[in-house]
Amino acid sequence: MFPQSSVNLRSISLGIILILLSTGFALGQREHVHALDSGIEVTAGDTTLRVEALRDDVLRITEGRGSQMPEASSWAVLADALSARVHVTADRAPTGGGGFHTASLAVVISPDLRLTIRDAAGQVLSQDAAPIQWQDRGFTVAKVKMADDHFFGLGDKPGPLDHAGMSFTMWNTDNFGWQESTDPLYKSIPFFIEFHGGQATGTLLDNTWRTNFDFGHSKPAEYAFGAVGGPATYYFWTGPDPKKVVETYAWLTGKTPLPPMWSLGFQQSRYSYETEAQLMTVANRLRADHIPADALYMDIDYQLKNRPFTVNPAAYPDLRAMMAKLKQDRFHVVMITDLHIANLPNAGYMPYDTGVAGDEFVKMPDGSTYTGKVWPGPAVFPDFTMARVRTWWGGLYKQFVADGASGFWNDMNEPAVFTYPTKTMPDDVQHRIDEPGFARRTASHLEIHNVYGMENSRATYDGVLALRPDERPFVLTRASYAGGQRYSATWTGDNSSTWNHLRMTVPQLENLGLSGFALSGADVGGFAGSPSPELLTKWIEVAAFQPIDRDHAAKGTRDHEPWVDGPQQEAIRRRFIEERYRLMPYLYTVAEEMSRTGLPMMRPLFLEFPHAAKDGHPLDNDATGEFMVGDKLLVAASPSPEEVAPYEVHLPPGEWFNWWTGVSLGVRQAAAARDLELRDAASVQKPLMVTPKLEDLPVYVRAGAIVPIAPLVQSTDDTPQGPLTLRIYVPANGSGAACEGSLYQDDGHSFAFRAGEYLRMRMTCSVGQDGALTVHFSRPEGTFKPWFSELRLEVFGFAGSKPQSSAGVVTAVREGVWSLTLVRPTAETEIVLR
Ligand code: NOJ
Repeated sequence: MFPQSSVNLRSISLGIILILLSTGFALGQREHVHALDSGIEVTAGDTTLRVEALRDDVLRITEGRGSQMPEASSWAVLADALSARVHVTADRAPTGGGGFHTASLAVVISPDLRLTIRDAAGQVLSQDAAPIQWQDRGFTVAKVKMADDHFFGLGDKPGPLDHAGMSFTMWNTDNFGWQESTDPLYKSIPFFIEFHGGQATGTLLDNTWRTNFDFGHSKPAEYAFGAVGGPATYYFWTGPDPKKVVETYAWLTGKTPLPPMWSLGFQQSRYSYETEAQLMTVANRLRADHIPADALYMDIDYQLKNRPFTVNPAAYPDLRAMMAKLKQDRFHVVMITDLHIANLPNAGYMPYDTGVAGDEFVKMPDGSTYTGKVWPGPAVFPDFTMARVRTWWGGLYKQFVADGASGFWNDMNEPAVFTYPTKTMPDDVQHRIDEPGFARRTASHLEIHNVYGMENSRATYDGVLALRPDERPFVLTRASYAGGQRYSATWTGDNSSTWNHLRMTVPQLENLGLSGFALSGADVGGFAGSPSPELLTKWIEVAAFQPIDRDHAAKGTRDHEPWVDGPQQEAIRRRFIEERYRLMPYLYTVAEEMSRTGLPMMRPLFLEFPHAAKDGHPLDNDATGEFMVGDKLLVAASPSPEEVAPYEVHLPPGEWFNWWTGVSLGVRQAAAARDLELRDAASVQKPLMVTPKLEDLPVYVRAGAIVPIAPLVQSTDDTPQGPLTLRIYVPANGSGAACEGSLYQDDGHSFAFRAGEYLRMRMTCSVGQDGALTVHFSRPEGTFKPWFSELRLEVFGFAGSKPQSSAGVVTAVREGVWSLTLVRPTAETEIVLR
């Protein structure tokens, strides 16, 4: 427990006690400097600036006005990170003020409280452009921006991946039919990555109030962030590798837990499949047409008069029996459960009755329960900032869990309220905070708004987990805050059926992934409006490689399911969904990596290749349709998908293979500088131009990759028949060249993996002086027995003309591709092809 805001540092208990190395010494007229065991605190005028090192590479920066320092509490930052501290070495600043250094960072505070942070080599990583500016109850922190600074993150912001030159607001907003310039949207993730010359830093402004970010929009030489109220507390850290920045963000705010495997399958939804008959028709058609699928969604119309946690018996007469049938057919059902509880006294409506009895709802300042109009009409809203309310909310899932629902969907949790132009509840609605680290107090909605949706998803996640402790919960939320990835997957809300919205899925999902929400999707086909057949087909193609692959549509729009538009379109769509299922061993391995490291499944190129361009700009700024799936596959969607026209694929340096044909494209050089003057004409390689037809999506695989794939199934609940295939892409650049890959497997749904019931195989390969290829399997980890007893190696790019192996018969798959089947290694094993 952390005490409420505190004046005196000595009174702050942070799990470890901060020791003042000195009791303070006055420098000059104004400032007062305290060296701390883990940082420094300087007071000048009415402002105190405190910088503490949580790790050698992570700083917590707090500024306070008057004698008031912000409470050391957070909805976003994990308790362990919040209380972490390392010892620092104090430095005397020659010009007054003060400073310290750790093994990785050096901090200097000027007498007027401007903060400069350098890396160990003395390079400036961050520099205040001005001292903090206080406005009314708010503040602005301004930093020096360089011309070639790039900014990523901030969650679900639409538009280009790079936020440089733009400004944004954080205020969770239900924005039906949002467009590229719409801001804010549903989530507030006040975290960004600054990327400069291939090196990256991270900044998290941990403030749940309305916050704003300006990346050189109003002043080209500055970037700034601030809030209208609340704590001036932010975290700053260095990579310098961008992957490390993302991993450190996960250290601060948590990781996406390993999801159930079915949630990585194809998901079919609509607002709404209004009756059981409709839902079953969709399920049956998916199976009859052999379109692999795992999940079906029930949107609000299954409910009685839109009342959460009810079922309209006329529409869905026997939920339990229906779920059992669907389960038999290897489908998982996700039910929407909005948080607005119908204001329905004396009607036997359990969520309302128990909520009133337990005093679970938010109130107006006069103590009356706040009521706002949403789908059910007048509704009341749980006070999710209290632990006991979250427990009550979690209990509401008992029946649906017992009925067999696999996942839950928390929509409208900004919270959306129809009554006002602001689309949400009034600023003065009262929330009662009861959370470790926070003083127990009443907070206005202004403070809680941005974290409300996250606490809703937390209540759902924890509740469902308590009801079904052996199963991984799946929660899909629309609104959230930094750290919300600990509880839920997310989607980009009410997008539209336009080509531009398809194009926007790439940067938007990448920025969500960088911001912790590694498990994200956009409504496939677009929510508002009706996609043309070609748009729906292209969308299904691209989404097959995105983390959450959910086809969803608004009321009144034409059907969106893969089979609409006739057999030709359906055949293309099926082929891509099938490819997703073949790739499931790879996707699941990437998902497991995500759950361990916080790295997103869908990655911008700069995350894997920060130095891909000669002048250090992120390659993504040229390659706007491209993204990586894990670290091995690169999808090059068209930057103008509406036309069949040639476009340039910007492959990062190195050798790449065409995923579909297995043919090597040769070694690519580093990308040229963006600035034409910097281009060295002689070294500029001919661009790789493609003109994919409707049925084609360029996908590439990195030389040196080993990618596991499985025989096709119709649901992840099916057991694949036959061996697991390892596709091995041998680099062309001669002897010693290596490849690597891994495979992670477990039962796909329980927590048994925590007790060691998983399988991890690590594979490498190398080419010897004599040209022989050695594939090395390290001893498999874990006790899980997978579905395959045999492994099939598929070797691409191996120079040998007719290779042989003592491990078995090598056969030609097609020109230049060899295969070899062997018994699944259970010990360290080496296979040689020569
Ligand atoms: C708004 C959501 O964004 C959408 O996905 C859903 O279908 C409707 N609410 C109805 O529940």
